[in-house]
Order: sequence, then structure tokens, then C-alpha cells
Amino acid sequence: KPADKIIIAIDGHSSCGKSTIAKDLAKKLSLIYIDTGAMYRAVTLFALSRGVINDGVINVDKLQDSLSEIVVEFKRNSSTGELDTWLNGENVEKAIRTLEVSNNVSAISALKFVRERLVKLQQEMGQSGGVVLDGRDIGTVVFPNADIKLFMTASPEVRAQRRFDEMQSKGEDVSFEDVLSNVQNRDHIDSTRAESPLRKADDALVLDNSFMNREEQFDWVLEKLSERGLYK
Ligand code: DC
Repeated sequence: KPADKIIIAIDGHSSCGKSTIAKDLAKKLSLIYIDTGAMYRAVTLFALSRGVINDGVINVDKLQDSLSEIVVEFKRNSSTGELDTWLNGENVEKAIRTLEVSNNVSAISALKFVRERLVKLQQEMGQSGGVVLDGRDIGTVVFPNADIKLFMTASPEVRAQRRFDEMQSKGEDVSFEDVLSNVQNRDHIDSTRAESPLRKADDALVLDNSFMNREEQFDWVLEKLSERGLYK
């Protein structure tokens, strides 16, 4: 299969390095990276900015009514070379990564009508191949026929530490305890929700990276790809 036609699906818990691997693979194999979590975050940002969420309670009818107004796109950033997330004509790449969005995104992504719309969009974006997608339901729902499926995980403490370090380096004022409880809370909601809960596809390869660095993980994945004739 030509590399520009392959579909790589990466699922797993929050903050376990899915996007790092996805970006590395996109670069190495000239694939387009589709960050599906960013799409759920963009819808959450929209809901927060429109007053659709008040104290964590979602006005579901109001969100459903305005769903057709939400336009989420990815556009290449000429200075970083990466794809940024845009919401209704505005670059929201930074705004979707705040703790406020993180604290509300699980509730938004549990809504069936939100998932249906975003899954359809993701399938359109990836249908001709040459893509690597990361999320929670890529191998199970979005592209069950993906050429290779990875299920990534790491302990909650390791993941919280990584996210904490990342937020600190961006100057966000957060405590480790808050980040850890956000990670644990999201794990719980993501795995127990009724709509497309986070679960490993039967044919996914498990990558626990609690004690692996970026290079080791990347080499591991490339090896799995070459075993399948998807990389030489
Ligand atoms: O990968 P992330 O942390 O940016 O994802 C944000 C949230 O979106 C996460 O809590 C779960 C949800 N999500 C989802 O339900 N399905 C996806 N395919 C991707 C993300």
C-alpha cells in the first residue's frame, strides 16, 4: 500500500503522548495529522463562549440548535509548519488547551449529536488516506478499517506530570493536584460514557509508554509498521 494512502489510528487515555507520536509519524511518512481531540475542544470552546455551559451544566438544546453554526478546520501555520485548529474563522489553537476547556470537554464529547457530527467530519477528512488520527474512538468507530491501530497508555501520575510540565512551560498557573484530578476525572468519564466509550479495538497494538522516551516509542511504532509492510 502506498504511504500516501495509509490510515493510522491512535487511541488512548488523555495526556499519554498520542499527539507527539502522531506528529512524528506525520513528518516521517508525509501524512496529514488530524487531532480529533482538538475538534471536541473547539466545540467546547464555542459552548463556553456562547454561555451554553454554566457551572459545568450544558444547555443541551441550545447547543444542538447552534451546532450547524460551528465550523472547525485545520490550517497550516506557516511559522510552525503545523496544523492549527480554527473555529469559525479564528485561530483557537491556544485557546482550546486551557484547563477550563479541559474541564468541560469530556461532558461535551459525551453528547451523541456532537460525536455524530465530528465523526462524519473526521471520516471526510481522512477518507482518501495519507492520514494519522489520534483520539478515543478512531480504531473502534471512525476508521475501524485503519491499516494499523495503536492503543496508548501510561500511569495517571506519569501523564499528569507530563501535562503539568507542559502547562508550566507555557506559563499556565496550575497545581499538580489539579492536573492529576483532571486526568483521572477525564479517564473516568471517557471510559464510562454511553456513546463510544474509550476502549481498545480488538486488533489494536498496546503501547504503554510510562517508561519509554519519545525515540523509543517512535522506533517501536516504525518497527510495527515495517512488519506490516507499511514502512521500509
Ligand atoms: O486528546 P485530548 O485530550 O485533546 O481530547 C480532549 C477530549 O475530547 C477528551 O477528554 C476526550 C474527547 N475526545 C473524544 O471523546 N473522542 C476523540 N476522538 C477525541 C477526543
